[in-house]
Amino acid sequence: ILEDYAVSPLTGFLSSIPPLQRLPNSYYAPWERIVADLQGLILSKRLRGVVDDLPVLSTDKLTSEPEWRRAYSILAFITHAYIWCGPKPASRIPPPVTIPFKQTCAYLELPTVASYAALVLWNWKPIFPVEESSTLANLDMLHTFTGSLDEKWFYLVSVAFEARGAAAIPLMLDAISAAGTNNVSTVTAALRSFAEILDDLGMLLSRMAENCDPYVFYNRIRPFLAGSKNMGDAGLPNGVIFDDGGPMYKQRFVQHAGGSNAQSSIFQFFDLVLGVEHRVTGTKPSTDSAAAPQAKKSVPSSANFIHDMRRYMPGPHARFLAHVAEIANLRSFVDDHASNAELSVAFDACLAMLSALRDQHIQIVSRYILIPSAAAKKAKAAAVAAAEKQKAKEQGIELALRPAEKKTLRGTGGSALIPFLRQARDETSEPAVQGW
Ligand code: HEM
Ligand code: ALA
Repeated sequence: ILEDYAVSPLTGFLSSIPPLQRLPNSYYAPWERIVADLQGLILSKRLRGVVDDLPVLSTDKLTSEPEWRRAYSILAFITHAYIWCGPKPASRIPPPVTIPFKQTCAYLELPTVASYAALVLWNWKPIFPVEESSTLANLDMLHTFTGSLDEKWFYLVSVAFEARGAAAIPLMLDAISAAGTNNVSTVTAALRSFAEILDDLGMLLSRMAENCDPYVFYNRIRPFLAGSKNMGDAGLPNGVIFDDGGPMYKQRFVQHAGGSNAQSSIFQFFDLVLGVEHRVTGTKPSTDSAAAPQAKKSVPSSANFIHDMRRYMPGPHARFLAHVAEIANLRSFVDDHASNAELSVAFDACLAMLSALRDQHIQIVSRYILIPSAAAKKAKAAAVAAAEKQKAKEQGIELALRPAEKKTLRGTGGSALIPFLRQARDETSEPAVQGW
């Protein structure tokens, strides 16, 4: 059944065959030429002009799933580069991108944005194809906005994370079946192996610092990942218009979250199999256990950031998670066997590892977002103050102190950042109260 959900038992949410490096039909050469020269076009300030002049290509010549995925990935890179390459963001995407991009997104059930699938899942290649291993020792990325090693590494750590985490999928699906037949020893053994996988993933996360510099990440890479939602501060108060060449009334503003690892299905899979539940940021656990059965059937609310991120996953992957939510039984199985210490310890070890992984991630966010953002703010304030002082000196006036401007820091996915991430971590170790 995994194939029905475009999930591989070996590579999980990554395709088992590496993504296409080029669309085979030369009809698509104009797109391929742009992504191949993306950084040069950005640096020479020619990208927008070149994209405006592209012919409107049809998606009729995309003949297989890997081709659709490559089309999506490269059109997503072109779209975000087009929006964010200038001093001011472009709020209108021209028809040569809009028309095929919308069709491709509709086919793959994805929003018109550079999601995690575009940037990570469908954007890697093995260095030595014969080795067939997807570890950091054998991976490279196909495309980046900046051409930097730092950007490649940021995506590469995520690809390697997906590849290592993949082993947990068949393992934990088997554990769910074993729980169904009351096979305690199989469940315990699976949970132990799962805890080891989570531990390995922590080590992988800690390797981010090896090749991704926080200054480069915050100031050079991150701006390209931004979406069109909550982007007033960045110059897109209403979002973006996908101009399909039709009459004006059809050209409505759309707002989407930007690329974020919160769109990774593997992490949500971990939560689901362990019965970890996430609430709307800022809300406390419900104490009304009578509400539980009803809540289990409720449709995830878009105010719940983690649930909402499923809309940014390829359709089959989001459906896979919905299916796992239906069959997940391990938490209640462990509760029903509370007297079995080995089982409880193995389950708790998984929760502790997942919580530790989130803790480590919060530290990364502090290093890669909070600290560079504070430094950038300080530098800007100093520059403004110096300019004002100079002006005042020239005009011979006294300066009044101005309050510092307040901006809410948000993740590229649009979350409230630290409060959101802390709550997600705390929920990992909470006892379950209500279902998804
Ligand atoms: C969420 C930053 C690397 C997994 C987030 C969020 C931020 C963030 C700000 C909040 C959601 C948003 O609004 O976008 C970063 C930074 C990273 C990094 C700065 C590295 C420089 C990773 C990696 C993974 C990961 C390598 C692992 C695959 C997640 C997950 C969430 C998330 C699963 C959803 C929240 C949760 O489930 O706890 N990240 N991230 N992140 N990130 Fe990262
Ligand atoms: N979601 C990450 C951020 O907000 C990439 O920077």
